[in-house]
Amino acid sequence: MAIRLGDIAPDFTAKTSNGNISFHEYLGNSWGVLFSHPADYTPVCTTELGRTAQLKDEFKQRNVKVLAVSVDALTHHKGWIEDINETQFTYIDFPIIADEDRIVATLYDMIHPNASATTTVRSLFVICPDKKVRLTITYPASTGRNFTEVLRVIDSLQLADKFSVATPADWKQGENVIVSLAVSTEDAEKKFPKGLRIVKPYLRYTPQPE
Ligand code: BEZ
Repeated sequence: MAIRLGDIAPDFTAKTSNGNISFHEYLGNSWGVLFSHPADYTPVCTTELGRTAQLKDEFKQRNVKVLAVSVDALTHHKGWIEDINETQFTYIDFPIIADEDRIVATLYDMIHPNASATTTVRSLFVICPDKKVRLTITYPASTGRNFTEVLRVIDSLQLADKFSVATPADWKQGENVIVSLAVSTEDAEKKFPKGLRIVKPYLRYTPQPE
């Protein structure tokens, strides 16, 4: 069954390029990004995993652990990781699951048979520390994902959790945010000392907290 926002991310144990892991235990109190790619030794996937490795410090700053999935064997992963490090000028230290028996792919509905009967599409799940799924995206095999966008959504989710704010279209770090509808204007005036810009009673901006 498809995974929906707010669901508890299914737990599993898996063989990975960094040894066996138990997913929830691996995440601990961190946020998580679990993402699938169609196959090892393919060009778009090579750039995606390389980009993820290059963004290591960005994920770390946000307390996010990354975990990749493909249905290829561990021996393939190991050789391919060397290629990615060489060609993308980086060093992969996050685990890549060898999901040969498709346990993770099935749990997370990552195989879309009308796209490909055997390989996963580009699914991505953001999971928060209470193990709830907070973002799902699905891209086709021919389109590499935008990992800057993934970080942007994580920033938005973390701000929303901490300050009862939402973020407008195309928002970027440091720009004004929107006060949640659940907060009255009276409370918002106290909660957001940097000030409010009230465009409509339901559209109230404040400078990004912190
Ligand atoms: C790629 O990563 O380049 C790719 C993988 C599977 C199908 C198409 C492209």
